[in-house]
Amino acid sequence: MKTAIATENLTKTYSEGKNEVTAVSSVSIELKEGEVVGLLGPSGSGKTTLLSMLGCILKPTSGTLRVYNNRVENLDENNLPAIRKKYLSFIFQGFNLFPALTAYENVMLALSLKGFTEDEASLRAKNLLTEVGLLERMHFLPRDLSGGQKQRVAVARALASGSQVILADEPTGNLDHDNGRKVMELLQKLSIEQNKCVIVATHDNRINDLFDRILYMQDGKIIKEDRRQQS
Ligand SMILES: Nc1ncnc2c1ncn2[C@@H]1O[C@H](COP(=O)(O)OP(=O)(O)OP(=O)(O)O)[C@@H](O)[C@H]1O
Ligand SMILES: [Mg+2]
Repeated sequence: MKTAIATENLTKTYSEGKNEVTAVSSVSIELKEGEVVGLLGPSGSGKTTLLSMLGCILKPTSGTLRVYNNRVENLDENNLPAIRKKYLSFIFQGFNLFPALTAYENVMLALSLKGFTEDEASLRAKNLLTEVGLLERMHFLPRDLSGGQKQRVAVARALASGSQVILADEPTGNLDHDNGRKVMELLQKLSIEQNKCVIVATHDNRINDLFDRILYMQDGKIIKEDRRQQS
């Protein structure tokens, strides 16, 4: 399987006045296409910080970061958007949907930003909403959808970008058990059927069985790795 993201000694130190906090410390990992990787660890262990660096929305303090063999750790805001647009998409705990836009319009917007014409975008948006099981609710506003349904719209929007890597920060955090599992099963299906590389930061250890690999974080370090036994 192709390597999507690779890091060597990736480190992030935040400075606040005189205080320095090393949120991520010397992390070396490789994430491949077709795998669903869980990033687990207590609050403050550095999961969001690591995910943000992998997603090229936070600049590392030191170490190397490769996204599809592009060295990105030293790129600036002139060059990063192109990398993000081509390879990476995010799903957040809070869904981040536009409240005044319907499910369909939220997905359409992502496709328009990608440069699709109105007709192409419309067809694709409907296909994506079908894929996440929401076609019949496509004209609902976010406030009229359940948490699980909102998160599935966010998954459809992430897919709209067509990027091969999906980074999700606590995607099941606002969901009950059944809806959380459904969203995770959807991400797993995308990894199997479309060879996506999916990385999920979570506290939710009820979904551990859906990960191919789990990286455990503590104090900014990966302290343990579990791989699912091949059956
Ligand atoms: N912008 C920031 N400035 C200063 N310190 C920060 C900043 N963001 C995070 N930190 C600190 O870095 C450490 C790691 O935070 P991070 O948000 O990555 O943890 P987390 O594992 O995602 O936690 P949670 O499970 O609560 O979301 C914490 O000590 C946090 O206080
Ligand atoms: Mg976090």
